[in-house]
Amino acid sequence: MSATGKRAVADLLDDDGDAHNSLLHSQGADGHRPPKKQQTSTPSSKSYLSTLSYPSTSTPILKQTPFQQPSQLISFSYTPEYVLEFTDSALRYFVDPPVGAKLDYGYERWVRKPDERGRLDGLLKAISHIRKDPMRAPNLPEIGLVSWRGVMTKMLAAPYEEREGWDLNVMFVNGTLYLEEHLTEARLKEKNDMEPRQRRQSYFGYAFESYCTSETPTRQNGPPSSGAPFGWGGDVNTNVQWCSVVRTKLGDTRMVIGGEVDCIRGRYTGKTDSFVELKTSLVIRGPHDEGRFEKKLLKFYLQSFLLGVPEILVGFRTPAGVVTTTQTFKTIHLPRLVRGKPDAWDPLICLDWGHRFLTFLRKVVQAGDDVSSSSVWRVRFVPSSGVSVELLSGQPDIDEVVNGEERVGFLPRWYWEEVAAHQQTPVKQTTATAATLTDWQL
Ligand code: A3P
Ligand code: MG
Repeated sequence: MSATGKRAVADLLDDDGDAHNSLLHSQGADGHRPPKKQQTSTPSSKSYLSTLSYPSTSTPILKQTPFQQPSQLISFSYTPEYVLEFTDSALRYFVDPPVGAKLDYGYERWVRKPDERGRLDGLLKAISHIRKDPMRAPNLPEIGLVSWRGVMTKMLAAPYEEREGWDLNVMFVNGTLYLEEHLTEARLKEKNDMEPRQRRQSYFGYAFESYCTSETPTRQNGPPSSGAPFGWGGDVNTNVQWCSVVRTKLGDTRMVIGGEVDCIRGRYTGKTDSFVELKTSLVIRGPHDEGRFEKKLLKFYLQSFLLGVPEILVGFRTPAGVVTTTQTFKTIHLPRLVRGKPDAWDPLICLDWGHRFLTFLRKVVQAGDDVSSSSVWRVRFVPSSGVSVELLSGQPDIDEVVNGEERVGFLPRWYWEEVAAHQQTPVKQTTATAATLTDWQL
């Protein structure tokens, strides 16, 4: 037990006490806790746990971790059949939603993309596409990390996460870290067998997107005979997504991150400065609701910040799904809005934690003689405790990640062969891109 009464991840696991064989680094996050070196409880496993303890959210950050303004490398779309194409066919434009929009409209026609494993395939196709394009390739940096925005949001929000843990699979190939969310078959089943009430609420968010967006920069009303309410932007098919792939940098880690962008305000210029994130939230009826909303703003903030999305439009809805008001927030103003409040959060704590986590992770994956470009590590985050990393060495664990697919670890074999065989060749930054690489305002 630490002085704060919180338990480290390693404390939660069996320790056979074999300190002689403990090889990998273990690092106290804040220097308050002595380093721990532990072996996992899996008898066949020769891997060792490395742990990074939970950060304090009350210690002020003395040295700010810089985060570079994200810039778009490429965009792509998923079709209604969930086929990836390098077009902007799924891009939508923002239009004002009608007052009193009913978010349960069209629920029974929702084409729901099932929750799947957190594979990076779409993002990897995009990176490969950029590498082969002589116009785009010069903008591709030496990549330190590749992941989806959702994973990065969870990782950065960890210091304030009190309930939900997460697991990641990590590979380190040719100097690049790849992070995918690890979802077991049981967890996927749970996500796909959502409670009807929760499923309906989840639909409300998508219905709001339909009311707020149009295929063209101005609203196209459906034919009067269609029966749809005013402002309805078309039935929901969650296969359809428009994704932006950006480059950015956290501390010294250059990252390529991909994520869905809900819509664009005005003209599409290929830059992130017209991106809009849409959100729904229950109407605020008192201080308790206000606190809950302010807590939620951290996720809204990080999600948007990571892709360089400057604007978040929130539709406040009744429990039955009627939008009563909307409010626009500037992403960079959100930290100021919560500062000094009981449920305040500080992005500097998140970025500092993210930087320390990635530094720690890079150290772990570079250690040991028995690691290769096909090795997979499992990162586990336990709220109030911290993260642990272990090299997967048992065949059942590795088979679970590969899942019988054409993969090396979790990377598609075609991609792994493309990168594992070639040393990264540092690409000189052109003056044009270097000029735009300023820090994102905090
Ligand atoms: P809201 O965020 O308005 O509730 P995103 O805003 O991230 O683009 O996601 C769009 C919608 O997907 C969300 O709208 C929500 O309805 C649904 N959604 C996202 N993450 C979810 C989750 N973990 N569980 C259930 N629904 C989710
Ligand atoms: Mg959204």
